[in-house]
Amino acid sequence: MTDTRPQGRADDAAPVQPARQAEVYNALYGGKDHLGPDHDLAAEIRRIFPGAPQAARANQEFLRRAVRHLADAGIYQFVDLGAGYPAEPHLDTVAEPGARFAYVDRNPTVCCHLRALCRGDGVVTIEHDLRDIDAVLDDPELRAVIKPRVPTAVIMGAVWHFMTDAEVTHLIGRLRKRLAHGSHLVFSVGRRDGLLEEKVAAAVKVYTEHVSPVVLRTRQEILQLLTGCALISPGLVKTYAWRPDDPDDITRAVNDDGTPHLYAGVARIVPVPRLGVGLLPEER
Ligand SMILES: C[S@@+](CC[C@H](N)C(=O)[O-])C[C@H]1O[C@@H](n2cnc3c(N)ncnc32)[C@H](O)[C@@H]1O
Repeated sequence: MTDTRPQGRADDAAPVQPARQAEVYNALYGGKDHLGPDHDLAAEIRRIFPGAPQAARANQEFLRRAVRHLADAGIYQFVDLGAGYPAEPHLDTVAEPGARFAYVDRNPTVCCHLRALCRGDGVVTIEHDLRDIDAVLDDPELRAVIKPRVPTAVIMGAVWHFMTDAEVTHLIGRLRKRLAHGSHLVFSVGRRDGLLEEKVAAAVKVYTEHVSPVVLRTRQEILQLLTGCALISPGLVKTYAWRPDDPDDITRAVNDDGTPHLYAGVARIVPVPRLGVGLLPEER
């Protein structure tokens, strides 16, 4: 006999969406572009690291200072890989006037928001996996605003910890080959040194189980990824200490022990010389 009762229960009718990187981060810094599971995950991370929201906001402030610094130095092309939801002031407006800006993310909802809210002349958003960096740089929409022979700043805020060492090394190697002389890399990375080991382990476990694998690195491990990149002053430091607008920010942040501030830096990308111009040892 056929069972004519309605199948399933009310509570499994609507599948619960898994928490996602961009949305959990958005919930952490106090944005509004996230759902219940993202909010719950962010709350769990805050329980482990109560200073996580400050660390996220200090990261955004670092990115703005770095973009302003490079814009003041004459760079006007920017590619933001793993851009995340737009947070005001948007980075393309920090780099004005006349800046060309390409936002890149693999999260389609993030890209919708970026397209809707970051719409200046010379600003585009493309949906890509940044690990396929050649496909990103060859995308016709990006090529319409980012010219290969012009020095470019590539921004990678809070994204390397979602990548393996091999993926970061490959990406930097391709940037060295493809970008014009004078190009720069702006990056920030989740760290594990200087924090209680058991807290780091708990945060990695909860994030890996509910969102995605995450690799937190020591300062030394991050420095080792920077082959072919020349850090500009002040080098690899915590986000708040990178050319702060207010020197008191450093004192306040240092006193705020246990806050999982990210490591951050800005580096000049040293191009790989072309054949015949002189080969680096690794190319021979
Ligand atoms: C933690 S958020 C950081 C947002 C912003 N960059 C910042 O620092 O404020 C990481 C972002 O990187 C994106 N992302 C992570 N891995 C990616 C990949 N392989 N390709 C493209 N986007 C990626 C996520 O979708 C998310 O929007």
